[in-house]
Formats: sequence, C-alpha cells, structure tokens
Amino acid sequence: MGWYNLSEWLDLVLRWFHVMAAITWIGSTFYFMWLGRIFASSERQLVGESGEPWMIHSTGFALTSKFKPGPGEALKMLHWFKRESALTWLSGIVLLFLVYFLSGGAYLAVKVVSTAELIGYAAFSAALIMITWVVYDRLWESALARRPVWAVGASFAFLMLVAWGLSRIFTGRAVYVYVGSILGTVMVGNVWLRVLPAVRDMTNASESGSAHNPATWASGQVRSLHNSYLAFPVVALMLSIHRPAIHASPLNVIVLAVLLIAFVAARHIVVGGRRSKWALGVVALALTGMIMMTGGTPLQDVQRSEAPIEFAVVRALITERCLGCHSTTPADRTFGVTPGGVSFDTPEDIRRFAPRIRQRIIAAEAMPFGNHPRPTAEERDLLGRWVDQGAVLQ
Ligand code: HEC
Repeated sequence: MGWYNLSEWLDLVLRWFHVMAAITWIGSTFYFMWLGRIFASSERQLVGESGEPWMIHSTGFALTSKFKPGPGEALKMLHWFKRESALTWLSGIVLLFLVYFLSGGAYLAVKVVSTAELIGYAAFSAALIMITWVVYDRLWESALARRPVWAVGASFAFLMLVAWGLSRIFTGRAVYVYVGSILGTVMVGNVWLRVLPAVRDMTNASESGSAHNPATWASGQVRSLHNSYLAFPVVALMLSIHRPAIHASPLNVIVLAVLLIAFVAARHIVVGGRRSKWALGVVALALTGMIMMTGGTPLQDVQRSEAPIEFAVVRALITERCLGCHSTTPADRTFGVTPGGVSFDTPEDIRRFAPRIRQRIIAAEAMPFGNHPRPTAEERDLLGRWVDQGAVLQ
C-alpha cells in the first residue's frame, strides 16, 4: 500500500476523462450532422406529416423541429454544447505533455539528455500546435477559401509538411499523436473561435431584431463542416499509436496521409447516407494500400542458410538487445516492468513470445522500442529463422 502508483493513476484517470469527454462531444456533433441532413434532404418525406423527424430512444419519444427565430424573438432554454470540446482538448493537452515530456522523452525517442532540452522540445511542440492553427485559420479566412478544393488541398499539403518535419525529429508514434493533437486543436479552435461567435451573432441579431453578419455565419458553417470531417481522423490517429507496425513503419508519414483520406471518406459514408456509398471504395482502397505499405521487409533480402539456429545464440542476442526492458526486473525502468506484457527472463518466456517477436522485429521492424539501435539484417534474420524453425530451445 502506498502512493507509488499515483502517476500511473493520474495518467489513467486523464485518459478516461479524455475519452469520455470526446464521446459526448463527437456524439452530439454527429447527431446534429444527421439532423441537418434529414432537414435538408428529400428523406424528409419519410418522417412526420410536417416533415419533423420523430425519434425514439429508451428515454421516450421526441419530435424535433428546425426553428429559425424571428426578429425580436427571445430564445428560452437554449442549450449550448460547448464545454465538452474544451474539456476534451484540455485533458488531451495535459496527457500529451505528461506522457511525452514528463516521461523523460522516452516515447519521443529523441535522446534527451537534460531538463532544459526537454523544456525546449515541449515549448517547440506547443508553439507548433498553435502556429498550425493560425495558418489553417488564416487560410480559411483568405480569398482561397472561396475555392474549397484548393483550400482543402493547401491545408492537407501543409499538414503533411508538418508531419514530415516532425518525423525528422521524433518517433512515428509521437508524430501520429502530434498530428492528432494538431487536428484536435483545430477542431476546438473552430468551435470556440468560429462557430460559437457565429451562433452568438445569430441569436443576438434575432433577439434585438437587427441583421446578423452573413460572413461570420458562413465561416461558422464551414468550420462546423470541417469538424465533422476531422473527428474520425483524430480518433483513428490516437488509436493507431498502439500499433507500432503502423506508426513505426518506414513509410509511416505516407501511411498517415492515406489514413486521413480513409477516415474522411468514412465520415462521408456515415453522414452522407446511401448516396455516399461510393466512398466505401475509397476506404477499401486506402486500407489495402496501408496494409501493403506496412508489410515489412521479407527475410529473403538477407543471405539465408538453413542450418538450425542454436537457442544459445538467440538467447544471447535477446539478453543483449531486449532484456534491458523486457524483464520482471528490468535494468531500464523507463517503461516499467515487462513492457507490453512481454518478458524474456526464461527460455520458456522467449519461446512463448516467439510469434510476437517475429511480428515485431521481422514483419513490423518496430523493436527495440523506437528502434534504438535498429537491429541489423543479420540479427533480424537470425531471430526470424529461429522462430520459423519452430522456436526450439536447444
Ligand atoms: C527500450 C526498451 C525496449 C527494448 C530494448 C525492447 N523493447 Fe520491446 N517493448 C518495449 C515497450 C515499451 C513495449 C510496449 C509498447 C509497444 O508495444 O510499443 C514493447 C513491446 C514489445 C512486444 C509486444 C508487442 C505486441 O504487440 O504484443 C514485443 C514482442 C517486443 N517488445 C519485443 C522486443 C524484442 C524482440 C526486443 C529486442 C530485439 C525488444 N522488444 C526490445 C520496450 C522495449
């Protein structure tokens, strides 16, 4: 008993909070997108007499109608859905700095030596997130925004440039989480700095009977649309950091680009209804591309001899390269004991994890953690052949 695991708990509580807040935010966003589609489309004929959709939920029936307040009409009981986004962002930013910086830079896999250096990286990252928002925001307030296809292209190109730049400095895992954080920040910026002012302007105008500002309103609508397209990519990026086969692959930045396209297409299907079914093809193509790109390097690239590999050689290699972390009593405690649930303390342990070893260092080329130092082709070949020969302990 004691407080030794306080930081683990802080980490976990933040993660819970972050995901729960995101669910309430994104959930209501998608609900409103769906309502918007129903109100706008011919599907209205499918619903109640006057066109209002009836909804049923275990809490009861609800009749929803779209309402445009007339001049001077005060809105009683107006519900704002805004706090969820702020809470999601705040918990996410705290997590980002807790996991990536307070852990001594282990997940960034830059060789951070001093606290000053770490603060430098943290300040650089915070600045980068903010700068990206400003560039995006300016771009979409500029004349280019009148040509949405070009503006989307420019935004995407800029984001990929940032991702590529980050990949020159940090691990793939950090790049994925950063790009996710950048997009998440864009979404929250959109809510607070573009959508809410537009809605506030509209309600004020209707209450005072004056005209609202059409430019503010249009900007709010565009940003709302952006957010609906960004939600899936952000969640997908955040979840992908758990699969090194993806983020640690040599083509990880290209995979990231394809992943964004796949999930933008997925949003199209979810909100667009039947007419958007074609986007399923995009998702399938993108997924196939990603699987192929992360396929790893085949063992045939290395000169192979079929002589049986001795377990002693395998064990020596694993002791030298892996046991520092993968042990119940690791020398390197950065990742706690038995990271990923994997330990190589006994020959039986090594045998038990043989298929995962093959996957991680042969197929995905994603071990040791952060690939420092990257295993040589001979080492990979040796471990791979040992597994292929049946992982024999002699
Ligand atoms: C610097 C510390 C470190 C070293 C050295 C290291 N690992 Fe890991 N390993 C980790 C961490 C952290 C995880 C869990 C996080 C993750 O999955 O990326 C992990 C996870 C794994 C997993 C579990 C993957 C899964 O998907 O089930 C395998 C297998 C693995 N490592 C094999 C190896 C092998 C083989 C070596 C030696 C060539 C090695 N590791 C060296 C830190 C390390």
